[in-house]
Amino acid sequence: MASPGENLKINGDRLWESLMEMAKIGPGVAGGNNRQTVTDEDGEGRALFQSWCQAAGLSMGLDQMGNMFARREGTDPNALPVYVGSHLDTQPTGGKYDGVLGVLGGLEIIRTLNDLDIKTKHPIVVTNWTNEEGTRYAPAMLASGVFAGIHTQDWAYDRVDHDGKKFGDELARIGWRGDEEVGARKMHAFFELHIEQGPILEAEGKDIGVVTHGQGLSWTQVTIEGKDSHTGSTPMPMRKNAGLGMARVLEAVDQIAWSHAPDAVGAAGHIDVFPNSRNVIPGRVVFTVDFRSPDIAVIRDMENKLRVAASDICGQMGLSVSFEKVGGFDPVEFDEGCVTAVRSAAERLGYSHRDLISGAGHDACWINRVAPTAMVMCPCVDGLSHNEAEEISREWATAGADVLMHAVVETAEIVE
Ligand code: GLV
Ligand code: MN
Ligand code: MN
Repeated sequence: MASPGENLKINGDRLWESLMEMAKIGPGVAGGNNRQTVTDEDGEGRALFQSWCQAAGLSMGLDQMGNMFARREGTDPNALPVYVGSHLDTQPTGGKYDGVLGVLGGLEIIRTLNDLDIKTKHPIVVTNWTNEEGTRYAPAMLASGVFAGIHTQDWAYDRVDHDGKKFGDELARIGWRGDEEVGARKMHAFFELHIEQGPILEAEGKDIGVVTHGQGLSWTQVTIEGKDSHTGSTPMPMRKNAGLGMARVLEAVDQIAWSHAPDAVGAAGHIDVFPNSRNVIPGRVVFTVDFRSPDIAVIRDMENKLRVAASDICGQMGLSVSFEKVGGFDPVEFDEGCVTAVRSAAERLGYSHRDLISGAGHDACWINRVAPTAMVMCPCVDGLSHNEAEEISREWATAGADVLMHAVVETAEIVE
């Protein structure tokens, strides 16, 4: 199988311009983006991506979960496509690169192959996975999860947002609910380029992370019920303060994660306090505890300890507590052949690299269940992500997309 020559490089300026153009859609309040899944802004971002794909001569497939598949034909009609991509949706206070780099990096590969008239045996398909972030609709990686057979489509359609709107209805409303059966496509391989979202590559001065594993994740939604009452006139002994119960449980969450240091983390990023009025003691709180570790036994232990600690704390305070698992996946080991393709690509191109375990969840984590998969990472400034100040350099983005292209093209087999 021929490897691409080390002079084969993407057009870094064109990739950067596309990233900046996409970032104009759903601007945030502090220089980043708020382009949450299945909102009007998501629809606009999709339309822009589609127009770029059309201009690059790609045909677009759209499945019933809104996953977009832009295809460049290969020379062998029987060869399974090599897939590449990530997500265009963002956090409510998201950056310009989380997910977007992987989709537009995929498009840049196609543009480069078109410029140089390079043909591959296998088709190449650039994918935008719906609702990777999981903010508006838990869990994260919802649509790649349906694609991989982890969730049923009906369950996904029935997920509700903060305002009671269903995912399936909102997907239809923005006009991106397609006809294609979800998960019917078969893949030769899948590659995802992503920013690291952590500090290691920048600190070590490395251009590329070769992602060998992803840590596992568990989301438990906790509901604590007490009693709404007046903050001024309710005597201290008579209060049933669900907010205070949550504060004590969150202390326990922190301690549980620290008890497995350094390879475990835990926090609650989503918190709803009811009725959320300055002079009402909260009678109900709902929050989601996010625990992660590369070791499944550690994740299970943290989940159990949370239930024991929260039940104890709430029992002593006269509060009731209930738990619902709203998301999770086991630690992931990526495909050896695809990981090797990424590492060899970095070497061929002369980029410094190291192996990495992904701290974040990615669509690649689910797709790894149904196809040989690997990820490429590039550094981000101060390791900061899920923050509007998320930043990368043009050079880092270029190196990441170069490595992605070489791994993809080698796997898709150049036709001489
Ligand atoms: C996905 O973005 C996650 O890691 O939560
Ligand atoms: Mn992401
Ligand atoms: Mn993210």
